[in-house]
Amino acid sequence: MLSDALDLVGVDDVFHGKRVAYMARTAGVVLGLDAAGLDDLLHAGLFHDCGVSTTREHSVIVAGLDSKDDEAHCLRGEVLVASFQPLAHLASVVRWHHTDAVDLELIDLPDRTRLLANMVFLADRVDVMLFNSPEEDLLLARVPILEMVRQQRGIRFRADIMDAFLAAASNEAFWLTLEPRALGLYIGHLARNLANREMSVTELRQLAFVFATIVDAKSPFTAEHSWRVASVARRLAAAAQLDDERQGLVEVAALLHDIGKLRVPDHILEKPGTLNGPERMRITRHAFDTWQILSRIDGFEEMAQWAAYHHEWVCGGGYPFGISGKGLVREARLVAVADVFQALRQDRPYRGRMSVDTALGIVDSMVSQGKLDADVVSLLHLDIIGCEAAATGTQEPFLGM
Ligand SMILES: [Fe+2]
Ligand SMILES: [Fe+2]
Ligand SMILES: [Fe+2]
Repeated sequence: MLSDALDLVGVDDVFHGKRVAYMARTAGVVLGLDAAGLDDLLHAGLFHDCGVSTTREHSVIVAGLDSKDDEAHCLRGEVLVASFQPLAHLASVVRWHHTDAVDLELIDLPDRTRLLANMVFLADRVDVMLFNSPEEDLLLARVPILEMVRQQRGIRFRADIMDAFLAAASNEAFWLTLEPRALGLYIGHLARNLANREMSVTELRQLAFVFATIVDAKSPFTAEHSWRVASVARRLAAAAQLDDERQGLVEVAALLHDIGKLRVPDHILEKPGTLNGPERMRITRHAFDTWQILSRIDGFEEMAQWAAYHHEWVCGGGYPFGISGKGLVREARLVAVADVFQALRQDRPYRGRMSVDTALGIVDSMVSQGKLDADVVSLLHLDIIGCEAAATGTQEPFLGM
């Protein structure tokens, strides 16, 4: 489900990560990799582009077979994957997924890393060529693509990897599985088998932090927004005397509250002036997209609400669900107050940051208008020094490791 979130960065080209995962893993089966190797290919394929947050960078990377500006996202991706313990062993695969086979040989790496990285690279380039093909029919598009790829045998792509790929891709079903419906079934089936493991709250926070970093990297104006909202929300949750585990879960929900923004094109997030109607609609749906992504994860039913209700108002009239009163549970109210306060204390493209006093004045007026919860806002006043430090201070994000 979280790979769905990454797919959103493509805006119009969704499922890139899933197609790469499918192609790489299918070729891995031909190569005779063991179950752990196949899982690694699936995960590396799904998350290989996690260093790409902006729609601008995404369009550069999918522009063609040779793009020069592609190393930055490999480096960012490496750091992100390394910070989530269950996938940390794939960090170097992500790091090297845009490096030619001949160059990989010169780098001191375990052979398995070279193999996985080069397999992801091959699947990635095939998918980019499919995306750029004038031919809509996959079976017609494959012919010139296979021809182009073959010319890179032993240079850009290792010979054994290329041969396995060509064998896997020799039948029609391989290509037809790239269609969204078939692909969804393939990934869904594997994910169900893999995802049935319990995650500790600590692992959950690490993973949520990875996604918060991806969302926040979309624009310099939202840099650090998500994890800072999360640390304010955690403080408010502690002040509201929620127990320790629940405080951690509020923090996770707050880390993920804007994950739906991955779908909003950069130029809208960064527009200096007032948004026009269609642009405002595009922004408004981010809270709904957050709900869509999170509510499908087992165990996230409540947290999906806490995260997605951050633009709802206590009196009703917020978006996107327009719920109010009891429907707006306390945890969601905590996240909403943290979000408003942190955003006011941060520069936006259309205004500078506000002083603490002005920010608190606006928060108070939102209480009078029935938008924010009065009790939560009084907790903010009581702990303003701590909340202010969490919202703007110099402390490092707490990873819970
Ligand atoms: Fe890619
Ligand atoms: Fe938001
Ligand atoms: Fe936000």
